[in-house]
Amino acid sequence: MPVNRQILFASRPGGGRGGWVTEDNFRLVESPLRSPAEKQVLVRNHWLSLDPYMRGRMDEAKSYAKGAELGQVMVGGTVGEVLESKSPKFKPGDRVVGALGWQEYGVGDAAALAKIDTSIAPASCYLGVLGMPGVTAWVGLLDIAQPKEGETVVVSAASGAVGSVVGQLAKICGCRAVGIAGGPVKCAYVTGELGFDACVDYKAGNLHADLEAAAPKGIDVCFENVGGEIFDTALRLMNPFSRITVCGLVSQYNATEPYAMKNLRSILVNRIRMQGFIVADRMELWPRAKTELAGWLKAGRLRYRESVAQGLEAAPAAFIGMLKGQNFGKQLVKLI
Ligand SMILES: NC(=O)c1ccc[n+]([C@@H]2O[C@H](COP(=O)([O-])OP(=O)(O)OC[C@H]3O[C@@H](n4cnc5c(N)ncnc54)[C@H](OP(=O)(O)O)[C@@H]3O)[C@@H](O)[C@H]2O)c1
Repeated sequence: MPVNRQILFASRPGGGRGGWVTEDNFRLVESPLRSPAEKQVLVRNHWLSLDPYMRGRMDEAKSYAKGAELGQVMVGGTVGEVLESKSPKFKPGDRVVGALGWQEYGVGDAAALAKIDTSIAPASCYLGVLGMPGVTAWVGLLDIAQPKEGETVVVSAASGAVGSVVGQLAKICGCRAVGIAGGPVKCAYVTGELGFDACVDYKAGNLHADLEAAAPKGIDVCFENVGGEIFDTALRLMNPFSRITVCGLVSQYNATEPYAMKNLRSILVNRIRMQGFIVADRMELWPRAKTELAGWLKAGRLRYRESVAQGLEAAPAAFIGMLKGQNFGKQLVKLI
């Protein structure tokens, strides 16, 4: 039996007081591989997904999901190959997506894994555009915000896994898609490759004026991924009866002091409907979302980009880098 390498959650950022996650919050260990029990499978993980929500699990603060326990394998989405199966649902060689965590091999319940079809798209896409981030964009935009043709949709973290899909879906709906991203290279990709109508570089220092110019008719839908000053600025430009989908607040996840919002009055005077959501609460929408996303991907109407770190040991640095914006597109770790 080969040895399994795993990355464990070793300590809480800031000793439990929050703040920036550091590489010593993780520990790489080797452990013997265990055999699957009845209704379980053993999987060789090929790809690991790194996602902002993992940062939330490292704190003890009350949240929508229970925090991770120290000493556990870090949680995470994975795609891999079934090596051994004690379930009629899978056979060796099947490619599966699941949440087997930051490790090279995983034993999981067959019920919590799903086969993927690599004739539709490469395996890694099932952690990005055809996986949880893509479905998040679909649910948050199409089910919650419900944009109408001709409306202006603004999305922050626009070059990232979720944001890149949001803007492209907005275009499919006939909307004006405006992204917000960090730096001219990411902005050029968002307009040039992804086909957004405009992209504002929030690092350029003129966020309000640039966003106003990019959304000359105001904002009808704000798909919020970042929070803080970016969200506060978008609030100033919202139209009457507009919608805000609060998907994430990544600028706040490593902050010790929360950003104090100044423009909440806009919610009242513009009669804005604002809704937060967690994609895992909407499992009934996943099959339809995945089918539609796969159709648009096949038709060339959805593009994506990946940042790939090599090897399990690279995961902590890549995770921290992603939270600092060093990723360009979906952040993955290639495990084999
Ligand atoms: N509600 C749900 O169910 C759900 C599901 C999935 C994801 N999410 C949320 O969706 C958001 C995007 O997730 P993702 O997986 O697609 O990640 P991502 O956008 O691929 O990567 C994170 C990006 O956040 C941006 N960022 C980080 N710190 C920032 C700051 N201080 N100011 C502005 N931008 C900053 C960076 O882009 P720049 O270089 O452009 O700054 C970075 O590339 C996150 O908030 C995440 O928590 C929510």
